[in-house]
Amino acid sequence: MTRHAKLELNGTETELPVVVGTEAEVGIDISKLRARTGAVTLDPSFANTAACESAITYIDGERGILRYRGYDIADLANHASFPEVCHLLIHGRLPTRPEREEFRHRLTRHTLVHEDMKLFFEGLPHSAHPMVILSSMIAALSAYYPEDDTPEEIDLNIIRLLAKAKTLAAFAYKKSKGQPFIYPKNDLSYLQNFLRMLFAIPAEPYVVNPVVQSALNKLLILHADHEQNCSTTTVRTVGSSGANLYASISAGVSALWGRLHGGANQAVIEMLETIRDDGANYRKYIELTKSKDSDFRLMGFGHRVYKNFDPRALILKKAADEVLESLGVEDPLLDIAKQLEEVALADDYFIERKLYPNVDFYSGVIYRAMGIPTDMFTVMFALGRLPGWIAHWLEQRNTPGARIVRPRQIYVGETARPWVELDDR
Ligand code: CMC
Repeated sequence: MTRHAKLELNGTETELPVVVGTEAEVGIDISKLRARTGAVTLDPSFANTAACESAITYIDGERGILRYRGYDIADLANHASFPEVCHLLIHGRLPTRPEREEFRHRLTRHTLVHEDMKLFFEGLPHSAHPMVILSSMIAALSAYYPEDDTPEEIDLNIIRLLAKAKTLAAFAYKKSKGQPFIYPKNDLSYLQNFLRMLFAIPAEPYVVNPVVQSALNKLLILHADHEQNCSTTTVRTVGSSGANLYASISAGVSALWGRLHGGANQAVIEMLETIRDDGANYRKYIELTKSKDSDFRLMGFGHRVYKNFDPRALILKKAADEVLESLGVEDPLLDIAKQLEEVALADDYFIERKLYPNVDFYSGVIYRAMGIPTDMFTVMFALGRLPGWIAHWLEQRNTPGARIVRPRQIYVGETARPWVELDDR
């Protein structure tokens, strides 16, 4: 049965079709609204706007549900490997055993980056944030692998991107440390290779710690997709113009960088360090958050979509305890984080606004325990989010009749006025 919503504007009634998703989400299709009524909708920051129909990820923010292609995030975090989740998001299904082997093999074979790309790294200052290096290097890949017209070329470029991004991320870290780049080894798995390229030095043997590997696997899976967030919508928007995979994903990396998005994991640790250096007086910072005179926000708290709990944060809080214990790490920042959470969750300010810890609140503590430096945290988020961005770029590109993204606006500036000669201004 076709359902409609009725809109009355200036005394004229217009019927708008209602779209219902597979999880019974309801959307009013306004794509013909302007043609029929002359009006547009105004929804700054898109809090009420579904920009597309998508079959990749489902979130129910009220019930704390997150599923990739129908699979619950907790099942994936507990049972899957990150490459399996990449396959799931990009191809829509978990790989069979032969498909998994083939996928892993291809990801391994494409890990090396073109030698000339090392020259780019030489031109950057040591102080460059690894996120700017990552976004530049991913964009630069399109200079080396420009073709993405046929499905086969696109598929190969996706493999290249997944395989090489971690090499580029590890090189960015090595650059900041002034250490030599470590090349990948084909007998290592995806995550082992990344950890080795990150932490090994030529002078010493390096053995991957299984606790670190397992924690990284979980973290990357938990970050792998989150439907229409700022960076993913950026990737779809850039892709809608026909921009290639690397250019579109590079734009996503830039969008992720900000403190309100992926940059929050770095900001959380910096905030916890500030609180620690201020005598661990976390109550003072709760009050600061609430003060009308301050724009201080509790980083790692709040979410546009989750209004009860963020299922990823629940998994990571538990994982933080397990990882720190297995690695024998004691971190006062974890205690401060837990105390902050306890006090905030009982405070009316946070209760009224439905503010809960998000995925970034505990991830930084785990990365610290793993030995990953703070300015690499957002890069880790980007590596995790890659398969989600790729899946959305592909979905957007393969949607029949998809048009370039081009929103409208409500103009509130000056109305027409006459030209004023220079001497008269
Ligand atoms: N600390 C204190 N107050 C907050 C916070 C916070 N972290 N987040 C929201 N609020 C308040 C905000 O001041 C506002 O209060 P009022 O109604 O009195 O003006 C109210 O809660 C609603 O906030 P909003 O800014 O309208 O919410 P939003 O949906 O636009 O923003 C958010 C969502 C995640 C950007 C925001 O909660 C925030 O800035 N959080 C801190 C940064 C952060 O942790 N970001 C990572 C998000 S999860 C990973 C990802 O997907 O990127």
